[in-house]
Amino acid sequence: MHIDSKIVHGGQHPDKETGALSPPIFQTSTFAFRDADHGARLFNQEESGYIYTRLSNPTSDLLAKKIALLESTDAGVLFASGLSAVFNLVITVAQAGDHVVSDDTIYGGTFALFKTIMPRLGITVTFVNTADIDALSRAITDKTKLIFTETPANPTMKIVDIAACAALAKKNHALLCVDNTFATPYLQRPVELGADIVLHSMTKYFGGHGDIIGGAVVGSKEFIHELWENAKEIGGCISPFNAWLVLRGLKTLAVRMDRHSKSAQKIAEYLSRHKKVERVYFPGLSSHPGHDLAKKQMSDFGGMLGFDLKGGKEAGKVLMNSVKLCILAVSLGDVDTLIEHPASMTHSTYTDEELRACGITAGFVRLSVGLEHVDDIIDDLEQAMANI
Ligand SMILES: Cc1ncc(COP(=O)(O)O)c(C=O)c1O
Repeated sequence: MHIDSKIVHGGQHPDKETGALSPPIFQTSTFAFRDADHGARLFNQEESGYIYTRLSNPTSDLLAKKIALLESTDAGVLFASGLSAVFNLVITVAQAGDHVVSDDTIYGGTFALFKTIMPRLGITVTFVNTADIDALSRAITDKTKLIFTETPANPTMKIVDIAACAALAKKNHALLCVDNTFATPYLQRPVELGADIVLHSMTKYFGGHGDIIGGAVVGSKEFIHELWENAKEIGGCISPFNAWLVLRGLKTLAVRMDRHSKSAQKIAEYLSRHKKVERVYFPGLSSHPGHDLAKKQMSDFGGMLGFDLKGGKEAGKVLMNSVKLCILAVSLGDVDTLIEHPASMTHSTYTDEELRACGITAGFVRLSVGLEHVDDIIDDLEQAMANI
């Protein structure tokens, strides 16, 4: 089955009893046991079944299985947010004394979690450019348990060679996790390229409508069981209603990603011709250093892009304050086009030096291209550019 059809039908069937096409929302905290022995057997994991929604819930399970299927792996655990997914992942793979290598260009919240919270738990994190395989190799120690990367990376759209990172991870007995939030399994499937684990902020393209917060981790059955054992004690489960909203949003992922990608390509080309624009960061442009690799490991380039204006940060501010159709807001992957300034917003957890090291300039503007008519987005940017 093609990925488009898997997105619609994968893991889902009309309800056997009622024929309902849309799955029910099991909006319940607890589940009744048949008798006391049944409850005890479920707690002992001698029998499978539902106990309490923090542990598992049929609506969330349906979505977890569907994401695992789309990502060509076995199973998944869902969380209340993407960041909760990252936290649970790391503490499952690593303990005090262990080491994680993370790419240096990642979502600012993930960066802060790695930089400030993990060291308090005794887990050290080295930030490195994972697109530079030699640098990645040098950063790995005998304590390294996890290599964590995002590709395309938030916000510079850097492309990382997943297969090369996977080979290095295997050689060093570490696990490779790819945050696939920007690409989604419609455009890129890291497990097929050798990654062990895939992580998503479902808040973005999975939900697709900017109305939920959620996270997912998928991987092998054994790893996911270990993750679940921790997750149920930590308690950051997704709500059944949010899981259902993601199930609904996911159905249109393929058509949305096609439209996001097509419009982003056109906007990137428009920006790269604009006299007030210094540089455009979009892997669909042949000038992008990761263009060839993106063509190899992705089926299209996605809906995210960045650009530097010749007037730097001040010009960026004028642009962001002048847009009328685009919305000045963080987050991404929504129906609406969102514009933001990473250095002062999503990546404000980076110091100036850290921003410089990974190429996020002071004037970098990030655009999450929405589903409006592309000409209207370009017209809006053009009228805003006139104020610079
Ligand atoms: C690539 C990426 N990963 C993870 C996250 C964190 O997800 P959440 O906001 O759902 O916690 C974000 C949030 O912007 C993100 O962009």
